[in-house]
Amino acid sequence: MTAGLRVPCAYQGGKQRIAKQIVEKLLLASDSEDTIFYDLCCGSGAISIELVNRGVTPNRIIMLDCSSWGRFWTAVGAGDFDTRYFDLLLADLPENKRGIKEYMTRLSLAPVNEHEAEIYPILQACSFGGKQIWRNAGKWENAFFRDYWEPTATSVRRSPANPMQPSPKELRRRICNLIEGMHGVRCLATDIMQLLNCNVPSNSVVYIDPPYSGTTGYAFGFDVCQFVNQLRLKTEAPIFVSEGMPLNNNAMQLHFGGAKGGISGTRIGKHQEWISRF
Ligand SMILES: C[S@@+](CC[C@H](N)C(=O)[O-])C[C@H]1O[C@@H](n2cnc3c(N)ncnc32)[C@H](O)[C@@H]1O
Repeated sequence: MTAGLRVPCAYQGGKQRIAKQIVEKLLLASDSEDTIFYDLCCGSGAISIELVNRGVTPNRIIMLDCSSWGRFWTAVGAGDFDTRYFDLLLADLPENKRGIKEYMTRLSLAPVNEHEAEIYPILQACSFGGKQIWRNAGKWENAFFRDYWEPTATSVRRSPANPMQPSPKELRRRICNLIEGMHGVRCLATDIMQLLNCNVPSNSVVYIDPPYSGTTGYAFGFDVCQFVNQLRLKTEAPIFVSEGMPLNNNAMQLHFGGAKGGISGTRIGKHQEWISRF
């Protein structure tokens, strides 16, 4: 991302590494200073955060996710995130990193209470492989956590792997910055189909990041092409969809940059990222 705000933690399918390329396209498609940006299936918020880092004011962003991220962003946007309760949770974490996994497992066995927005980012920051943890009928599900890991004499990786990433201190720093920088975003913590009952002005820009076809491990899903067809009947706004493949003839492949890039600094691996415009 450009500067400043960062996603709270890694998340399955999170777009932080390609947010810049995606947001570039969304900004080019916006034709006025009043454009409203819809970040549908916002998850950890990589796209909305990049929009704000690029100067879009939070009150021009509407996020949506039916998972606990929806509750988190609703609280952040409305200024309702309970930092005092969040700090109590962080203060309660075991100092010994070897105790974190067991602690998280216990925390995830307690019923989901009114502090879902504060508990969830802590659980998700410890999730094994960044996999989605979700609530179902008042319980946390798919909650599996990382262990503290130290290299042995023969392991390739030479540094220990922490059970919580980022660290509690860094998670707090990122969330405090988000509370300040993202205040004013609106978030709908609902199923995406609910949006079909809302007015989506034609000068909006809509971005959708659904669970990719064939991926497992998400609690929720929907048929994105069917949704786009239904939304198109309601608005003329440009609609962009992320997928691991092109969805129409108006699709572009995105590239991962970074230290592991090839000669040009970009890398095209097995995993593909495409953005299709409708
Ligand atoms: C690929 S992830 C989005 C990642 C996100 N863009 C980010 O950068 O973190 C897909 C998201 O879609 C959400 N989702 C799946 N089905 C949904 C539905 N029917 N309604 C609303 N959200 C849904 C999931 O909860 C998940 O967070």
